[in-house]
Amino acid sequence: MSLVKKIQDKSARVGVVGLGYVGLPLAVLNAKVGFTVIGIDEVPEKVESVNKGNNYISDVVDAELKEVVESTRLVATTDFSVLRDCDIVLICVPTPLTKNKEPDLTAIVKVTEILSRYVHPDMLVVLESTTYPGTTEEVILPKLTQKGLMAGKDLFVAFSPERVDPGNRTFKTHNTYKLVGGVTDACRDVAQLFYEQSIVKIFPVSSPRVAEMTKVFENVFRSVNIALVNELTQLCERMKINVYEVIDAAATKNFGFMPFYPGPGVGGHCIPLDPYYLAWKSKEYDLHTRFIELAGEINEGMPYFVVNKLQRILNRYGRCLRDAPIFVLGVTYKADIGDPRESPATKVMALLLREGALLRYSDPFTPTLMLEGQEYRSQAITPDLLASSACALILTAHSAFDYDMIVEHAPVVFDTRNGTRHVTHHREKIILLST
Ligand SMILES: NC(=O)c1ccc[n+]([C@@H]2O[C@H](COP(=O)([O-])OP(=O)(O)OC[C@H]3O[C@@H](n4cnc5c(N)ncnc54)[C@H](O)[C@@H]3O)[C@@H](O)[C@H]2O)c1
Repeated sequence: MSLVKKIQDKSARVGVVGLGYVGLPLAVLNAKVGFTVIGIDEVPEKVESVNKGNNYISDVVDAELKEVVESTRLVATTDFSVLRDCDIVLICVPTPLTKNKEPDLTAIVKVTEILSRYVHPDMLVVLESTTYPGTTEEVILPKLTQKGLMAGKDLFVAFSPERVDPGNRTFKTHNTYKLVGGVTDACRDVAQLFYEQSIVKIFPVSSPRVAEMTKVFENVFRSVNIALVNELTQLCERMKINVYEVIDAAATKNFGFMPFYPGPGVGGHCIPLDPYYLAWKSKEYDLHTRFIELAGEINEGMPYFVVNKLQRILNRYGRCLRDAPIFVLGVTYKADIGDPRESPATKVMALLLREGALLRYSDPFTPTLMLEGQEYRSQAITPDLLASSACALILTAHSAFDYDMIVEHAPVVFDTRNGTRHVTHHREKIILLST
């Protein structure tokens, strides 16, 4: 039976390589709409967890994972040879940076090399990992076609970026526009047909490079705009202007303005990393993407700004950072999710430790945290703990925090996220990034 028919009647077997924040939701979604899905990951604990129906990704609904596992629509394994029997392979492995902020495609290369052993006619391979424009055609395609398969004829290869926004309650994988760029028109059409089975809106583009560039552009757009507001915040601080009031006022304009908010830096697996993929690639074309570098410089400077400002706050109370008990509230990279990756909070905390501050923290999503080789445990926010701190430092504004209580009992609150915006009492104790 042809691949198109197998997609239409859902008898196609779908392999999802990498069962993380992107891969697991995708695997569950495809199993839910009726495909048989085999999840492949190199970490045995993740595979075991999936096979027991134990969820570890907040965007996946526990009951949905259980249901697809119990009905054997989703099975996980560490054995890559199952790829031999897959009709469709979705690659969702990490794309980190090296220490020198260069693209690290180790996982993609490794998976592609293994896949090249099992690739067969009538197979669709889609890369979902975020990467620089050219990866699909320059890194993946040559390996998959080395045995003579022809893309667009007997093998279908495409790039389709994942745009999931962790924690977003409105937009999930199934109702977010899915970009699809095929190596050939036939590749694009097969990939589009496949995604149409589970995702409401598909937006085909003319090539994998366009899809790859679009995904990175979206994240550069965020990085640059966050940097802009972070820079404005530093100016507002010197000019004694409340930056949040400025942003709210600017947001009353019905066109041409989109609010971005300042913070102690940027985090997660996307914004701090992806722009550097493009910056690296652009050098091959004798171009230096200065916006990207500048945005990175400003955003990466924010943890230092926070530490410097905290030092000045303590100064006002006749204290210094050394031996000051600082109660950090929120350590994940954004509110209400459990993802600690690249969190600016950990950078701020590491800098504070180096200055000799005494840290404790509270985060409902992060029971323990390794900092400078030492394990810290999340503590409940109590009036006593707040009162015995030199400062409560809000680095991630989780909605579970009781901001009224925090402001009431802490001697001073340095709020880097405007989490205390609805608190009406003791506002004189609240210090924002710009005030
Ligand atoms: N997390 C997000 O919000 C998000 C959003 C859009 C795009 N992306 C992109 O999606 C890709 C995956 O990100 P993620 O957040 O899911 O990462 P993740 O770390 O949560 O998951 C990746 C998974 O791949 C597995 N893995 C690593 N190397 C492997 C290998 N060689 N073989 C098999 N499995 C391997 C890991 O064990 C892990 O389970 C990245 O390129 C990222 O930039 C992430």
